[in-house]
Amino acid sequence: MGSLRFLLLPILLFLVLLGADDHAAVLAADDQFTYNGFSGANLSLDGLAAVAPNGLLALSNGTSQAAGHAFHPTPVRMRNGNGTVQSFSVAFVFAIVSNFTVLSDNGMAFVIAPSTRLSTFNAGQYLGILNVTDNGKPGNNIFAVELDTMLNPEFQDMNSNHGRGPQQHAVWVDYDGATTRLDVTMAPLDVPRPKRPLISAPVNLSGVVTDTAYVGFSAATGVIFTRHYVLGWSFAVNGGAAPPLDISKLPALPRFGPKPRSKVLEIVLPIATAAFVLALAVAFFMYVRTRVRYAEVREDWEVEYGPHRFSYRELYKATKGFRNRQLLGTGGFGRVYKGVLPKNNLEIAVKRVSHDSKQGMKEFIAEVVSLGHLRHRNLVQLLGYCRRQGELLLVYDCMPNGSLDKYLHDKARPVLDWAQRFQIIRGVASGLLYLHEDWDKIVIHRDIKASNVLLDADMNGRLGDFGLARLYDHGVDPQTTHVVGTMGYLAPELVRTGKATPVTDVFAFGVFVLEVTCGRRPLGSFAADDQNVLLDWVQEHERRRAALDAVDPRLCGKYDADEARMAIKLGLMCAHPLPDARPGMRQVTQYLEGEVAMPEVVPTFFSYTTLALMQNDGFDSFAVSFPSTVSTDASPVSGDVSAVSGLSGGR
Ligand SMILES: *[C@@H]1O[C@H](CO)[C@@H](O)[C@H](O)[C@H]1NC(C)=O
Ligand SMILES: *[C@@H]1O[C@H](CO)[C@@H](O)[C@H](O)[C@H]1NC(C)=O
Ligand SMILES: *[C@@H]1O[C@H](CO)[C@@H](O)[C@H](O)[C@H]1NC(C)=O
Ligand SMILES: *[C@@H]1O[C@H](CO)[C@@H](O)[C@H](O)[C@H]1NC(C)=O
Ligand SMILES: *[C@@H]1O[C@H](CO)[C@@H](O)[C@H](O)[C@H]1NC(C)=O
Ligand SMILES: *[C@@H]1O[C@H](CO)[C@@H](O)[C@H](O)[C@H]1NC(C)=O
Repeated sequence: MGSLRFLLLPILLFLVLLGADDHAAVLAADDQFTYNGFSGANLSLDGLAAVAPNGLLALSNGTSQAAGHAFHPTPVRMRNGNGTVQSFSVAFVFAIVSNFTVLSDNGMAFVIAPSTRLSTFNAGQYLGILNVTDNGKPGNNIFAVELDTMLNPEFQDMNSNHGRGPQQHAVWVDYDGATTRLDVTMAPLDVPRPKRPLISAPVNLSGVVTDTAYVGFSAATGVIFTRHYVLGWSFAVNGGAAPPLDISKLPALPRFGPKPRSKVLEIVLPIATAAFVLALAVAFFMYVRTRVRYAEVREDWEVEYGPHRFSYRELYKATKGFRNRQLLGTGGFGRVYKGVLPKNNLEIAVKRVSHDSKQGMKEFIAEVVSLGHLRHRNLVQLLGYCRRQGELLLVYDCMPNGSLDKYLHDKARPVLDWAQRFQIIRGVASGLLYLHEDWDKIVIHRDIKASNVLLDADMNGRLGDFGLARLYDHGVDPQTTHVVGTMGYLAPELVRTGKATPVTDVFAFGVFVLEVTCGRRPLGSFAADDQNVLLDWVQEHERRRAALDAVDPRLCGKYDADEARMAIKLGLMCAHPLPDARPGMRQVTQYLEGEVAMPEVVPTFFSYTTLALMQNDGFDSFAVSFPSTVSTDASPVSGDVSAVSGLSGGR
């Protein structure tokens, strides 16, 4: 509900005084005029009054404390020959508009005055007709019908309901010269003229109006922004009723207040707005959720790795949102999920490595990317990476048959026959040789073990996770070197110095070879035996010249005895406590391919562990921490769990 509505209270002012008048051109006694709008009319205007292009007569224009007048240009003869004031009839349509709903302002008046020069009169409550000094004095010779205004907010809704602007009213003023009776009738414009006048009173104008007088309107403004309009006007003197106004020809008022709205809009708009706001909120929520879900960490220096960089969204979709069903395994470095890249249907494995250190990340990513260039049929192809807050995702080729340790230690899996095992040992040796010697950089794997050997579709062994151990090397205080690797595969000197070298890889490879041959974990899978270090156990057999007794009993004796004997010898040789006693990977492959004969291993009286203790002054810390760490073999499925990354190496 919205606009304004006025209650109009006509009040009559009787202003009496004598005065002479000497106007020449006068309206004929029986003359009349009609203005259906004031376009082209030659009105006499002053003050604020103006005719709008559409013919609307505005007596005021919003300026406060001022007045405006509009008169018919020629004067009217008001008295007949014997001196009586003639009958006259006036009809007009007006509107008063204010943008204040609770305050009233001064109104307007229909005026019969001896002169059109009223501009020296005060505005305000004197309606632009009189001034402070003149008020009430005789000789003003002015007759006026005042239309005062009062603003009634309680009527507001009606207007708006009817979709109309400010109320327009029609007024009829009829004076009967013979009976000196004045009738004032008023009605809203859309209501027919009432039979009963609003005011009907005897008023003897004989002593008031001059012989010839000007007829017109006057309006005055106070402090409130009020506008007074006359839309149409007709007048007749001594000729009966004023000609009726043609309402359809009256000019329109300017628009006030808000644009009238249709009912449909009033209902639809709030719903549409609510729906829009809701849609916006949902869109914002989705956007935020997407942003959070797929949030990544990207830095400028990564631009050059573009092709190796996967978007998190892509990996999220590939792994169906990293659902548990997609989980391939949990390793020392993190969880591995299986996935299919939507863009090329490539099967991938995604490793999520939690990594909070920002330090060294640049170097590590550079390394990951360069490792991505490694191509060997015994290496799991590293395809790329993605970074998130506190997390690194590495993308690999998916190896359909999973990791080797499950086949070795999970009794539910089929037993790998000897030929497959030997093939895997040769494959891993070949892959490791490539890392150590055949690429332009030496890559130390640091974490060779059965669970890091994956089996492709043809059951070939492929080394995975190469270089990943470096991740924990970067970004740590160089003063305190961390030993990275898995208990049981750690070379004694690595534990002591913390320095990974190709021969520490060879050591782990040796343990791996024995693990594959004997089907036992490097530590603690000897339920009944006292001896729970695989190396010492195998060495014991070797010393007793009963090496083949150490071969995995699940093979049921079905194996190539020469190859098995050679594997045990090779394993012991590679896992020798003295680094210098270990062969390089080229030699290892030559032995495995039978190109070079294996040298005889000199049997040692001491166990490897004892030798290591004797050799390494600083090895005692390893020995002390050893038994407690061994207990991690409680996880029979994955030997991976025993990975350590915080073991402090020596002094
Ligand atoms: C109103 O009319 C007067 C006189 O013509 C003029 O000076 C004034 O600027 C007008 N005000 C507006 C708001 O049009
Ligand atoms: C308008 O009226 C004035 C007298 O008030 C008169 O002098 C003038 O000629 C008239 N103009 C037209 C165009 O009628
Ligand atoms: C005055 O003259 C008019 C006609 O012009 C006539 O109708 C009226 O009765 C006369 N009044 C008096 C008082 O003579
Ligand atoms: C009333 O109208 C005047 C002129 O159009 C404007 O300046 C003023 O801000 C309005 N006041 C209110 C209360 O709307
Ligand atoms: C009132 O109007 C009369 C006649 O126009 C003028 O002589 C007088 O100075 C006016 N007084 C004021 C206070 O404006
Ligand atoms: C009106 O007043 C005049 C003089 O002031 C007087 O002559 C006349 O009779 C009066 N008319 C009526 C109807 O009272």
